[in-house]
Amino acid sequence: MATATATATTTSTSLLKSSSAEGLDKSDWIKGQSIRHVAVVKCNPSVNSSLSVKASSYADELVKTAKSIASPGRGILAMDESNATCGKRLDSIGLENTEANRQAYRTLLVSAPGLGQYVSGAILFEETLYQSTSDGKKMVDVLVEQNIMPGIKVDKGLVPLAGSNNESWCQGLDGLATRSAAYYQQGARFAKWRTVVSIPNGPSALAVKEAAWGLARYASISQDNGLVPIVEPEILLDGEHGIDRTFEVANKVWAEVFYYLTENNVMFEGILLKPSMVTPGAECRDRASPQQVAGYTLRLLRQRIPPAVPGIMFLSGGQSEVEATLNLNAMNQAPNPWHVSFSYARALQNTCLKTWGGRPENVQAAQETLLLRAKSNSLAQLGKYTEEGESEEAKQGMFVKGYTY
Ligand code: 13P
Repeated sequence: MATATATATTTSTSLLKSSSAEGLDKSDWIKGQSIRHVAVVKCNPSVNSSLSVKASSYADELVKTAKSIASPGRGILAMDESNATCGKRLDSIGLENTEANRQAYRTLLVSAPGLGQYVSGAILFEETLYQSTSDGKKMVDVLVEQNIMPGIKVDKGLVPLAGSNNESWCQGLDGLATRSAAYYQQGARFAKWRTVVSIPNGPSALAVKEAAWGLARYASISQDNGLVPIVEPEILLDGEHGIDRTFEVANKVWAEVFYYLTENNVMFEGILLKPSMVTPGAECRDRASPQQVAGYTLRLLRQRIPPAVPGIMFLSGGQSEVEATLNLNAMNQAPNPWHVSFSYARALQNTCLKTWGGRPENVQAAQETLLLRAKSNSLAQLGKYTEEGESEEAKQGMFVKGYTY
């Protein structure tokens, strides 16, 4: 170990930068993509070339993208529900799960006037990335006009993890480089990969390792193709456990995630994180106040997340809209080393979807509801939110056991 450290220290002074792709496996490059300036960083050329590291040719752009998403008073609108999950949402308001209905709903979201003041990025499902609005404009163009960066969900969902205690793993690495390059061409500038960890089912060491490794491979491939990876190991709310147990599991999960991110040469300045807040399990009788959630969550982040990471964009995970906003606000009562913000789906969309109800005459009212939630979370990012005037509806929890996305 001591030898390895010494080698790393002496060799870091002799990094070589080359504009040729020498030494790279050509199959790393997708067909049709020209090899732009490629930095090949060799740790001590005299030592075995297995130590060669390839830096992303997009490094500067990734840093810029991540910083612009993590800008003051703004966060992410997650609207990347898979067709199956979007179908459940539409069903809840009595609409059929057709492409036209998904398009109408997503048109309403992306074209809410002034959304870009509070939202810096929108995560899309593949269908939406290639889709036009109901009035024929590309969804991506509408977002860019609003100063919102388009992002893309790239994982292919969860499947049972053989050899585990009914746990799951996340698919999607096969062909990911090719897909990511195509998404970039289509206008996406960041990506999301959501895997989950279940506390009631363990979590087993195998499930945690698999989750962390998958996230790290995905993050590396994303950066190689110009997409800022959102790293999301969701610790599910399911369970009767208390907040201390959540903290313990989250601590282990994030340690492992950063171990493998490092091993995969992921550039921390060009990633964003999407953690669950540290809360008691949904079925735990002891509830936690926003101050307690903030205390535990910030302690976790300080112990595990390097300050080089620009942004922590929380998921809402089944909390009510108001609860998610209050918790975020509590975390921003003092300066943090990172931008601490939101990347909510349910906690931004719930009342908006209900207000719309699939009726064209309700579009404007629904957009106003979305803006209200976005503004509340923008204020919470700045630590200036108050609960005053919030509706009873916005206080209703949305926890669903075994939630998939
Ligand atoms: P929620 O905020 O509904 O938990 O969404 C989670 C998610 O991963 C969306 O990208």
